[in-house]
Amino acid sequence: MYVCICNAFTEKDVHRVIASGQVRSVGCVYRLCGGRPRCGKCVSVVREMVAGAACGCEPLACKEAGMPLAG
Ligand code: FES
Repeated sequence: MYVCICNAFTEKDVHRVIASGQVRSVGCVYRLCGGRPRCGKCVSVVREMVAGAACGCEPLACKEAGMPLAG
């Protein structure tokens, strides 16, 4: 499912960059996905995804995709 329409990246794309261990901020997600925030409608979702990974919890989508968690 698309998280960001302006930059055309999906939940899987966000989980992939978080799992890479290179994400230090919400802005990193956009940069690593090849874009930047534009309209801003997706920022809260991306922020929640980054925060979920940072707290060490296991987001369901990551588990379902079999992706390792950042941290
Ligand atoms: S939907 Fe992500 S910046 Fe517009």
